[in-house]
Amino acid sequence: MIEIATPGAGGEQVAMGAPPELPERLPVLPLRDTVTFPDTLTPLAVGQERSIRLINDVLGGDRMLALVASRDPEPDAPGPEQLHDVGVAGTIARMLKVPDGTLRILVQAGPRVRIEGFDTEQPYLVARVAPAPDTVTEGPELTALMRNVQETFSRIIEDVPYLPEELQLAVANLEDPSALAHLIAGALRIRTEEKQELLEERDVAKRLRRLSEILARELEVAAIGSRIQSQVQSELDRSQRDFVLRQQLKAIQDELGERDPGEAEVEELREQLAAIALPEDVRKQVDRELARLEKLPQAAAEHGVIRNYLEWMASLPWDTTTDDNLDLAHAREVLDADHYDIEKVKDRILEFLAVRRLKPDARGSILCFVGPPGVGKTSLGQSIARALGRRFERISAGGVRDEAEIRGHRRTYIGAMPGTIIRALRDAGSANPLFMIDEIDKMGADYRGDPASAMLEVLDPEQNSTFRDHYLDVPFDLSKVMFITTANTLDTVPGPLRDRMEVIALAGYTEEEKLQIARRYLVPRQIDRTGLKRSQIAFSDAGLRAIISERTREAGVRQLEREIGSACRKVARRVAEGTFDRKVTVSAPRVRELLGRPLFVPEARRRTRQPGVATGLAWTPVGGDVLFVEATAMPGKGKLTVTGQLGDVMKESAQAALSWVRGHAGLADDWFATHDVHVHVPAGAVPKDGPSAGITMATALTSLVSETAVRDDTAMTGEITLTGQVLPIGGLKEKALAAQRAGIKRVIAPRRNEPDLEDIPEHLRADLEFVWAAEIEEVLAAALDPSRDGWFARGRRTGMLAGQTHPDR
Ligand SMILES: Nc1ncnc2c1ncn2[C@@H]1O[C@H](COP(=O)(O)OP(=O)(O)OP(=O)(O)O)[C@@H](O)[C@H]1O
Ligand SMILES: [Mg+2]
Repeated sequence: MIEIATPGAGGEQVAMGAPPELPERLPVLPLRDTVTFPDTLTPLAVGQERSIRLINDVLGGDRMLALVASRDPEPDAPGPEQLHDVGVAGTIARMLKVPDGTLRILVQAGPRVRIEGFDTEQPYLVARVAPAPDTVTEGPELTALMRNVQETFSRIIEDVPYLPEELQLAVANLEDPSALAHLIAGALRIRTEEKQELLEERDVAKRLRRLSEILARELEVAAIGSRIQSQVQSELDRSQRDFVLRQQLKAIQDELGERDPGEAEVEELREQLAAIALPEDVRKQVDRELARLEKLPQAAAEHGVIRNYLEWMASLPWDTTTDDNLDLAHAREVLDADHYDIEKVKDRILEFLAVRRLKPDARGSILCFVGPPGVGKTSLGQSIARALGRRFERISAGGVRDEAEIRGHRRTYIGAMPGTIIRALRDAGSANPLFMIDEIDKMGADYRGDPASAMLEVLDPEQNSTFRDHYLDVPFDLSKVMFITTANTLDTVPGPLRDRMEVIALAGYTEEEKLQIARRYLVPRQIDRTGLKRSQIAFSDAGLRAIISERTREAGVRQLEREIGSACRKVARRVAEGTFDRKVTVSAPRVRELLGRPLFVPEARRRTRQPGVATGLAWTPVGGDVLFVEATAMPGKGKLTVTGQLGDVMKESAQAALSWVRGHAGLADDWFATHDVHVHVPAGAVPKDGPSAGITMATALTSLVSETAVRDDTAMTGEITLTGQVLPIGGLKEKALAAQRAGIKRVIAPRRNEPDLEDIPEHLRADLEFVWAAEIEEVLAAALDPSRDGWFARGRRTGMLAGQTHPDR
């Protein structure tokens, strides 16, 4: 509701005739945000009930009232103290009722009056008033002031559209200095306070002086305004029509008080970005995009794209880093708290950190943890991050075929996003996190580009300070990021990438180590996780050993942890059901009772029961494994068939083994001419390759032709040459661990691998007997079961076999 009068439509004020006699009391109509000057005709809108009542009463009488401006620009219902002390007396010349119930009045303003006090406030204000006439000092100064004001004002009229041209004539013709001042002051759009100040100034010369100051200022503003106007004009000529329309739309929205939400958004983004210390070229790019965003209508598809982009820019840790804790003793503590043993690995990590400490800006090489699943690669990375006090983010490189997954898509693609590196940085919220890039050995490459080269750019300290994500399209400095990669094997890691990494191998754990890890880390963790108390459950060593040997066949401890967790949950359930009320000890029999029958039983005994089968040891990316080589013969023409998904190297190795056996078996020549030999390596789904099964093949073939079974407690590994030499192999530790898991007691290995024994933990050495062989004969002597008819004896007698059909097996 309009409480008080405001200037009505067409606010021009025109000087009019002489005032009537001034009464002692007048009802007061408060003015909002305007001042009425003496001797002007002023239209006003009146809406408030109390004011309407006032107008009606006044119209019933002498039509006279006082118009007084309020001090507060938005008063509710101003009382006496909120009104100025000086106003004008006036007469209502005309009144119009508007259909909405408000009134429009035209007031002929009379002389200036001073409010001496208020008689009543209800139903409307009535004040005692006294005349406040001008003081005039005629003279040349006054004339000069008048001319100055007239001249300046006429120049302003030319520049300012809101002042009608007619005023020019009116002002030029006015000879009364006081009326001149009042006319101009009323016409100008200046602050209400300034107007009131002019109204209150009774000395005409002073009033004109003040007015000429204000006019000078207004002239300047008008000049600047018209300069801007003409600039905008020329800009307009160049830019498109929709810009104009948008500006107009904006103006309308401003007028309606509907602030464009898009604009608020731009403002917010601008503020967010302003608060970040961006590199110079990034700042430029961001400013450019902000400017573009501002000009685009919200509905435009590109608007969303740019906004999204800027939101990404604002969310990245351009200037946020965490402080490194390079205290080695602390690091050691954290590593020990999280991981059992693996002393060598921890030492390497501490050395690495020590270098960082001595040379903080050293562009460190990248650690790469290589080893089978579940040996603690990821959790070591987490520990290092914890020790250093850095944020930890895991990035999976496994299965990444598309370069864009690492480096992002250009913004022109629909739904484009930054790549995994930038996304991880945002998640980390710091520019120096520890990134663990998992499964770097399982990156692929296809027509969509080579992710390995993108990864190289990420990891390479020479390049990564200006890593450019396609989406961001500006460089981001990755040189403060610490990278640790993990892989199961280095074979499939591209050479240039491998070169930049410092490899730390984790082979897998022995049964003893697993027992310790289980007791110290896995069991407590799983018990806590099920909500049991330490007083309710315990695992005996025999129970844990049973889980390890009967329910897991892994290099790491992941399945072990899962089985322990499963046992805990089963116990928890029975405790909850009330079946167990005393402390439960998970012993070996209880393992079987809780978890079921063994998943794995030693196979070697059953498999090698008949001649022709030998137990080999293989290295695979998931740790070592045992494999069985089966050889069989059938009537034929000396053909060799090899099956079981073997790679070329392994097939050739079978061929070499067969050739050696053929040359040394001492069988009559036509045995091979009349028999086909088939070598098969079961578990066909697992691709196998490499030469290290050579001696196993030779042993299986010899066992076949000599009809002598292979010892069931023995497994072997080694490459064979055509002359029967045994060549060294890799991964002895993994293979030894696999042998132990499979219940093997003896391992036949190349003599030249003997130094590797050093890598093998003490208790594993105690558990396994190693037979070192340089020649295949030594292998055969150790492998073939002496309790059976021995090969050498029988082979030398094989004259007997000549011409005979070999019995089918
Ligand atoms: N030496 C150890 N001491 C204590 N806990 C260990 C040890 N090694 C592994 N673990 C535990 O084994 C679990 C599996 O480890 P982690 O996830 O780190 O394996 P990983 O090597 O990263 O395997 P993957 O190659 O499958 O990713 C974790 O819970 C980890 O804490
Ligand atoms: Mg992992």
